[in-house]
Amino acid sequence: MVVQPEDYYDAESFARLKEFADKQETPCLVVDKSIFERQLDDLISSFPYAKTYYAIKANPMPELLGILRDRGCCFDVASRYELDKVLAQGVTGDRVSYGNTIKKARDIRYFYEKGVNLFATDSEADLRNIAKAAPGSRVFVRILTEGSQTADWPLSRKFGCQTDMAMDLCLLARDLGLVPYGISFHVGSQQRDIGAWDSAIAKVKVIFERLKEEDGVVLKMINLGGGFPANYISRTNDLKTYAEEITRFLHEDFGDELPEIILEPGRSLVANAGILVSEVVLVSRKDRYGLHRWVYTDVGKFGGLIETMDESIKYPLFVEKKGELEEVVLAGPTCDSADILYEDYKYELPLNLASGDRLYWFSTGAYTTTYSAVEFNGFPPLASFCI
Ligand SMILES: Cc1ncc(COP(=O)(O)O)c(C=O)c1O
Repeated sequence: MVVQPEDYYDAESFARLKEFADKQETPCLVVDKSIFERQLDDLISSFPYAKTYYAIKANPMPELLGILRDRGCCFDVASRYELDKVLAQGVTGDRVSYGNTIKKARDIRYFYEKGVNLFATDSEADLRNIAKAAPGSRVFVRILTEGSQTADWPLSRKFGCQTDMAMDLCLLARDLGLVPYGISFHVGSQQRDIGAWDSAIAKVKVIFERLKEEDGVVLKMINLGGGFPANYISRTNDLKTYAEEITRFLHEDFGDELPEIILEPGRSLVANAGILVSEVVLVSRKDRYGLHRWVYTDVGKFGGLIETMDESIKYPLFVEKKGELEEVVLAGPTCDSADILYEDYKYELPLNLASGDRLYWFSTGAYTTTYSAVEFNGFPPLASFCI
């Protein structure tokens, strides 16, 4: 399927993005700041009671971090390298959370020395490291949640712990002189089932109540994670619907007085702000009567489109040529046979598509540049521009 720009971008933004992109060498990502700002406005107005901690792993462009800084947002940071990027924008450590549950003791210390006092955890060993390297800090415990079946990019299993362990960790945090501050979860990125938040919030409620009643520990914060939708080929509900439903779930469980609520959006804020432009290198068929063509393009799994792994994220694809469409297999430019983007899901592209034609990959502002390999087959990392 070839999508139409108007289904994804307003005419003015698309014209601006395309005009800029068409002057660049391919492949490259072009991100439009004004679309990003609109997405941010949308999020803030949909969740007026929540604090935004942008997951900078999605796209750490300094221009975007600057916008978030000026809007008073906070940052979910996964490593000391991300922290340095945020601090370089003049953001202070008290607006940062160290959201990665897997961290070295010396990195915890580094964050602490830079003024960070909010840490995620899901294990005893990590908690003990936090207590030593960042004494007195606030910690939130990440729990395991359901939702991997309905998320395009699930984040289950590797992170989080069961409810009983989460409660043990909160008590241990207290005993170690830390502040057991709250509970977090991530229902999976590009989560299509809004109900995934319902069951996660219900679990959090049990933890809040039991800790208060049985141990006198009063938690203050719920971190709802990311998982909010971007516009890819399979459409989702819009953000407003997510917000209305999630707000309802929160009030059902916590009444009128909500705890502090944190969001950690990445994909939903920045994906739609970006267009990746690539060029067709080669079009071929594997046999005389082959029913579909192979289209090799100059961006692949190793050049930024790793989320095509298992064909998880299906990016909307636009080409300017018109005419009869035919199914293709889409593959990247490297000498690795894993570098096939879509084979099961058949995109349809015009029969007259040829080497040198440009492909416009919509909604590619998130998780592309950061995943791009540094030098596989000698190809440089994905170039990116902010306009
Ligand atoms: C801890 C944490 N928070 C937030 C996010 C951002 O999630 P999303 O891009 O779905 O908004 C991620 C994504 O990996 C994450 O690991």
